[in-house]
Amino acid sequence: MAVILGKAPGKIILFGEHAVVFGQPAIAIPVNKVKAAARVFPDFDSTQGHIQIQALDIGLDENLSDLNRNHPLAAAVYLTLDALEPQNIPAFTLQLSSTIPIAAGMGSGAAVTVAIIRGVSAFLGHTLPDPVVAELSFEVEKIHHGNPSGIDNNVVTYGKPVYFLRDEPIKFLNVDEPTHWLIADTGEKTPTYETVSEVHKKHAIAPQYYDQIFIKIGNLTRQGCDALTKGNLSLLGQLLTENQRLLQLLDVSSPKIEHLIQAAMDTGASGAKLSGGGRGGNIIALVPASKLELTKSALIEAGATMVISTKLTKESK
Ligand code: PMV
Repeated sequence: MAVILGKAPGKIILFGEHAVVFGQPAIAIPVNKVKAAARVFPDFDSTQGHIQIQALDIGLDENLSDLNRNHPLAAAVYLTLDALEPQNIPAFTLQLSSTIPIAAGMGSGAAVTVAIIRGVSAFLGHTLPDPVVAELSFEVEKIHHGNPSGIDNNVVTYGKPVYFLRDEPIKFLNVDEPTHWLIADTGEKTPTYETVSEVHKKHAIAPQYYDQIFIKIGNLTRQGCDALTKGNLSLLGQLLTENQRLLQLLDVSSPKIEHLIQAAMDTGASGAKLSGGGRGGNIIALVPASKLELTKSALIEAGATMVISTKLTKESK
């Protein structure tokens, strides 16, 4: 039996993080230059049902039965087995790898989960449809984040630009004009659940104040969707920068984020903001094609630990 491969891309959020948790829309796009992969090898030497999980990047090499059911990697396997209810499970080794930066707002946890679900289900002879993969991976997102909106698992499952509203059917975006984005890593790692739970606490203390910020972010997201699909790039840039101003009010930015945003804007970005949970992680900048190299160098000069470029086109899927 050949090795089975399950994979999923990284993602970035263009508009609407945090507000999306409170029912506002958000826009996210896949980033195919980074990926999570789950390779499934049959293990002919072990007895039926023996499942070994190896994630050597994080020093993990464990039998599934030795991991807590709430361990995110184990949970992804158990959820897949529960969904498929196979008659028998041939022994296998699940080898995980990922080039998606961890705790950096690029959907690494969701992508690893989706890769596992796809790899294990394919190994057991069933290709689960994307809506089922998205639903199962959402269960693991709850372990990662506590109260996730569902945007990460959806965008990495479908691998397409999405306009996402909690508890509503997902909408895919068609863009008319290509856009170029630089994703620059601050190198600061803050788990999403930390900023999400802080924003929740603040909202509980002053709901009206925070609700009006979320509503404003939602409005920007709707306008951003229009600007993106119609190719109005100067407006798109302004809206991104405006979204960042509102994220500052939520107190999820950081001096390093602001420094990288400034570096991008100084070298010709049309707009820039943090992407994801914030307080570190990545910034995204919308950059004209002619300024990509210059802006990339400026971001590295300003201390970005990694800069990835990604292009969103009509064909992006
Ligand atoms: O996982 P991250 O860091 O890309 O952030 C997800 C976006 C949030 O809106 C902050 C949380 C959520 O569940 O939508």
